[in-house]
Amino acid sequence: MHNFRLVYLNGEFLPPERAMVSVFDRGFIFGDGVYEVIPVYGGRLFRLPHHLARLERSLAEIRLPDPLTHGEGERIFTRLIAECGAGDQSIYLQVTRGVAPRDHAFPADTHPTAFAYAQPAKYPTADTVARGVAVVTASDNRWLRCDVKAIALLPNALLRQQAIERGAVEAILVRDGWVTEGAASNVFIVRGGTIYTPPNGPFILPGVTRDLALELAAANGIPAREEPIAEVALFEADEIWLTSSMREILPVTRLNDRPVGNGRPGPLHARLYALYKAYKQAFCEGKVA
Ligand code: PDD
Repeated sequence: MHNFRLVYLNGEFLPPERAMVSVFDRGFIFGDGVYEVIPVYGGRLFRLPHHLARLERSLAEIRLPDPLTHGEGERIFTRLIAECGAGDQSIYLQVTRGVAPRDHAFPADTHPTAFAYAQPAKYPTADTVARGVAVVTASDNRWLRCDVKAIALLPNALLRQQAIERGAVEAILVRDGWVTEGAASNVFIVRGGTIYTPPNGPFILPGVTRDLALELAAANGIPAREEPIAEVALFEADEIWLTSSMREILPVTRLNDRPVGNGRPGPLHARLYALYKAYKQAFCEGKVA
């Protein structure tokens, strides 16, 4: 069932089949928890401080103390990565409010449940990036705290499934006529040589890959703006990209069964993706933190 041998659960490293959580865990009962997904390139945790900072923020927003004391997360991940073997991987980390009798109100004295594992990961191949992917638009019917990386992902799962059943790989979500993000990704468009992405706030997750794309654009004189994107602007975009830890910076070449731009990945994607790959390479060689 699993392609890894060890998971971390509440202070222990265990084979996955021996890692057990109570059915009364509030993660199971209420979806009461938060998570992170961290890319691992060449055995190293990519943008770890950014992921840990976002985890801390998610935990604070749901008023859950951080069960991993300073530096503990990195030590746990390093062991999981070593056990997982060579090649690209990803880390999944989840923290829930812990086990308690079912009651919506917070329990008085419960320990959070902390769970993590590393697994081999397939990042988009050169072929996928050269072809681009298909997406569909869908109505954003999630809650109003999408800035919290909550494990309660039923709407996201339903929206992604809708996309798959329409022959696409992702749903781009629209709320009141404005683009928010993908079911599990952030969205960028290009118009007239400028990159646009919706601003951070309650409607989107502050994506680590999104931030890196903006950082690389700024450092290389590529005009980029964090601005609301109207749904109609999507259909007039020269380019559309998705960003996420698992999808990196992926060009969208079909939107609702119609070509985006000329139907091929655009020149600004090529530029930014080359910068991303160079950054990743430098990271793997230990030249950037
Ligand atoms: N999801 N928006 C949503 C709703 C997401 O779930 C994700 C990532 C992103 C991109 O964030 P980042 O660049 O930090 O990965 C945006 C992860 C990969 C997941 O749920 O598997």
